[in-house]
Amino acid sequence: MSSSIKISPSILSADFSKLGSEVISLEKAGADYIHIDVMDGHFVPNLTIGPEVIRKLRPLTKKTFDVHLMISPVDNFIKDFADAGSDIITFHPEATQDVSKTIDLIKNEKKKVGISLKPKSKIDLIENYLSEIDLVLIMSVEPGFGGQKFMPEVLSKTKILKKIIKEKNLNVDIEIDGGINFENCTLAKEAGANILVSGSTIFKENQGNLKKNIEILRKN
Ligand code: DX5
Ligand code: ZN
Repeated sequence: MSSSIKISPSILSADFSKLGSEVISLEKAGADYIHIDVMDGHFVPNLTIGPEVIRKLRPLTKKTFDVHLMISPVDNFIKDFADAGSDIITFHPEATQDVSKTIDLIKNEKKKVGISLKPKSKIDLIENYLSEIDLVLIMSVEPGFGGQKFMPEVLSKTKILKKIIKEKNLNVDIEIDGGINFENCTLAKEAGANILVSGSTIFKENQGNLKKNIEILRKN
């Protein structure tokens, strides 16, 4: 099972003054994806980075850019983030008037589509779209900031989602994001998540030993 687990370190916990070398270090440390949190100070109460930063990071690595858009309205920015070099574009259903239209915009750019559920957002919001998307991102903290505490109540939602995906025989990844540490990563995997996002744990545990921290999250 652990061999199919992917680790997607969030650069939200990286040193923004040297983002390029941080991304290169994550690749060397064995990251599968690079998780890029985009916040607009409106959909969430924090501001991070825009497409230009992604465009500058793109030549530094071939790793999948797993771009988590916490911006509303999202549609007008899809093309910019696609052109900048995103591989997976994930949006929140609350950030668009028309979920199908946003999915199509991302697909038209030939990018993988993810939809994210905040801790209190229900599966009903996305169930009808599961056959059209590549990934569901389950938020295990309220979106906006790194370093928050994992909300164990999202595990039951993860299990239900996994069951639905299996019953429908779909090929949809389940990614979990927020407060993941060396203990709860096991619970997240058991619940059905196959991609783990982690910022603080990867950048701060074991004196910031990225390789070691990625390995522990993968194996635990
Ligand atoms: C929160 C972000 C997460 C978060 C992960 O809005 O989507 O990616 O920063 O960081 P940790 O692992 O520190 O919770
Ligand atoms: Zn995220």
